[in-house]
Parts: sequence; structure tokens; C-alpha cells
Amino acid sequence: MKGVLLDEVSVGFDGVAALSDVTLQIEAGEQLAVIGASGAGKSTLFRALTRSVALAGGRVVVGGHDLYSLPRRSLGELRRRIGTIYQAYNLVPQLSAGVNVSLGEVGEMGRLGTLRAFFAGPDAGLSRRAGAALEEIGLGDKAGVRTADLSGGQQQRVAVARLLVQRPDLILADEPFAAVDPVTTERVLETLLHLNREGATLLANLHDVEVARRFPRVVALREGRVAFDGPPERLTEEELARIYAGDPHGTENGEGPGPPSARPELEGSFRLAEGRDGVSSH
Ligand SMILES: Nc1ncnc2c1ncn2[C@@H]1O[C@H](COP(=O)(O)OP(=O)(O)OP(=O)(O)O)[C@@H](O)[C@H]1O
Ligand SMILES: [Mg+2]
Repeated sequence: MKGVLLDEVSVGFDGVAALSDVTLQIEAGEQLAVIGASGAGKSTLFRALTRSVALAGGRVVVGGHDLYSLPRRSLGELRRRIGTIYQAYNLVPQLSAGVNVSLGEVGEMGRLGTLRAFFAGPDAGLSRRAGAALEEIGLGDKAGVRTADLSGGQQQRVAVARLLVQRPDLILADEPFAAVDPVTTERVLETLLHLNREGATLLANLHDVEVARRFPRVVALREGRVAFDGPPERLTEEELARIYAGDPHGTENGEGPGPPSARPELEGSFRLAEGRDGVSSH
């Protein structure tokens, strides 16, 4: 798959701009971290890359295709090559972890396929691959457990295991470490980088600036605009202050803005923001 191009992309919700004139060129195989305050437009950017929001302007090119002018059928084929980890995981809660991972291979299943998977389970070879993927992510013993009965962080890892089965060309990971402990963060990051080394372009939305610094390229959004695009070495304290300036969660304590990782007292408000996102329709 070729790279990704956003060309002066704008997205508005009820007349309020969520993305304004965002231009980004991402080469195939790149690793890109996206940072920015809550509400800056990070998830909206990812949704534009799967044509899950309407554009108010601009153009999105994915794998050489003008995404928003593709006929439905080709759009479905392209989407199958894009692997996503959303803030709300987009797993089927009634199905076991193993079946959810298997869905990576069969793609977005129709209602019939979902029913079949529910009653019969996937075929043996696919079950094995799903089991191996769960093993790799540390959930080898959870294949038969109903996904709804797993913890939030475990569900997030099921979504990562599904990528191992899907082998997408483009990975959109929206806060893949939001609900996992530091050890699991390393494991999930390793898995994503492993898929990247095998050729997948990797875009990750990250709240933790320190994790973002491990990516060779960081893009920051501020109020729907690109506020920074460059290597992490250029991400100075001044840059971070500018990026997170005006963060509604950052001004309450009078300390002024700063990156969230440097301000643990803001954890609570960031969690709340994620909760809001978790109930929206990704
Ligand atoms: N479906 C929607 N309807 C209306 N407004 C929306 C919708 N989705 C997002 N927005 C608004 O667009 C802006 C950008 O939201 P987005 O979810 O992209 O932010 P984000 O950077 O991902 O934030 P967070 O870090 O909290 O996940 C916010 O002001 C948000 O309230
Ligand atoms: Mg978001």
C-alpha cells in the first residue's frame, strides 16, 4: 500500500471546526505519533482516514486512492487493509476473545457471518492463528472468554491481537495504551512496531508525550490544526507548552499549560475525556 495524504482537510461538527486545513504526507512504512490536548481533533483525524466522518473540505488519499470518491465496494476493500484500535475497542462484546481476534481475517462481518461465528466458531486453522496472536499479546488463556467479561486493558489487547491476524497495511491506533499498565504498554508497543517492521504504516494517537518521543516523527494537533510536525528532538518544553496551551483541563490550577505526562494531577480530567469518547460512535 502506498502512503497516506491529507490535503487541506477540514471537518466540522454542527458548524464547529474539529479539523481545519490539515495537510500531512505520510510515507508507506512510517511510524507517526499524534499528540495534542483532549478535543484537539486526534480521533477525528483517524476517522477521516477511514471515511468515517464527512469532510467540509480537502482530500484524503490512502494507498493511492482518493478515499472520499471511492465507490462503496472499493471502500470496503480498502478498509479491510486498515487495522484500527479505537478508544472504544470496536470488538463484539458477546463473542469470545478468540472469535473477535479471528474477525481480523474475515474483515467486517455481515450479520450472518457474526451469527455463524457465534454458534460455530471460526475454522480450525484460523482459530490456531487467533490463539497464537492472543498468546503473543499475553492472553493465551483467554481465547474462550466472552470479550465483555475481560478487563478494559485486556479488551484493548484483544484488539491488538486482531491486528496480528489481520496484517493490515495501515494501522490506526487511537490511544492503544490508554487502559494498560506500563509492562503491557511495552508489549503492545512491541507488537505494533513488529507489524510496522513487516511493512505496515503505523499511526498512533498518544496522550503520553514520553511514549510519543519514541516515534521518529511526531505530529501535534492544536484546536484542529497541525501545531508541530517533526522529530521528537525538536519537541522542546516551549513547543509542548504551545501545543497544550489553551487546554481547558490545563488552566484550572493556575500553573499554566504543560504536557499531560508532566502533570499527573490532570489524570482524572483526561480519563473523563476518554470516557466521553468511549461512548461516541466510532
Ligand atoms: N460525532 C461528533 N459530534 C459532534 N462533535 C464531535 C464529534 N466527534 C468529535 N467532536 C468534537 O470535535 C472535536 C475533536 O474531537 P476528537 O474526538 O477528534 O478529539 P481528540 O483529540 O481525539 O480528543 P481526546 O484526546 O479527548 O480523545 C471535539 O471538540 C469534539 O467534541
Ligand atoms: Mg480521541
